[in-house]
Amino acid sequence: MEFKQHIKEVENWPKEGISFKDITSLMQNGPVYKQSVDALVEYARSKGADVIAGPEARGFVVGCPAAYAMEIGFVPVRKEGKLPRETVRVEYGLEYGKDVLTMHEDAIKPGQRVVILDDLLATGGTIEATIQMIEKLGGTVAGIGFLIELDGLGGREKLEGYDVLSLIRYED
Ligand code: PRP
Ligand code: MG
Repeated sequence: MEFKQHIKEVENWPKEGISFKDITSLMQNGPVYKQSVDALVEYARSKGADVIAGPEARGFVVGCPAAYAMEIGFVPVRKEGKLPRETVRVEYGLEYGKDVLTMHEDAIKPGQRVVILDDLLATGGTIEATIQMIEKLGGTVAGIGFLIELDGLGGREKLEGYDVLSLIRYED
């Protein structure tokens, strides 16, 4: 399946010079959306995932249906102030901005194999922060899966040492 043709590229959005990769066009096509999630499920299965983690908001789009299909738990990684109980928190840099991510302290049990799923890898800041929290809680990051990987922003390098799969790649 060639997934790339289902992604719309929006030039100069949300800022001048950014070529935004819009996944909503892929999501609108039911069979294609399902096949893309199925590919990530196959990957997560091959990594022996006990649980799936995904950063809000677009990580939920791929992470939740994958966890549902595998009948395993989903851990939401959320921006600060959204989770009601005790959390771990990490500051991180974005492709365009800075933010804080949090997870519930009891979201990961020590020794659990966690596969992280998100829509897109750019600088890797979001996933690096997610990895830090998972490891702090004693989890093992067994793999990281994306719909899209953007080359040239340092994401792959930042995640060196971790197993990374992306379904679509854009070269710079
Ligand atoms: C986007 C995207 C990834 C992240 C990739 O999320 O969904 O999560 O940026 O960038 P990085 O590799 O440089 O960290 P964003 O924070 O824009 O929020 P959203 O998912 O809520 O739209
Ligand atoms: Mg995101």
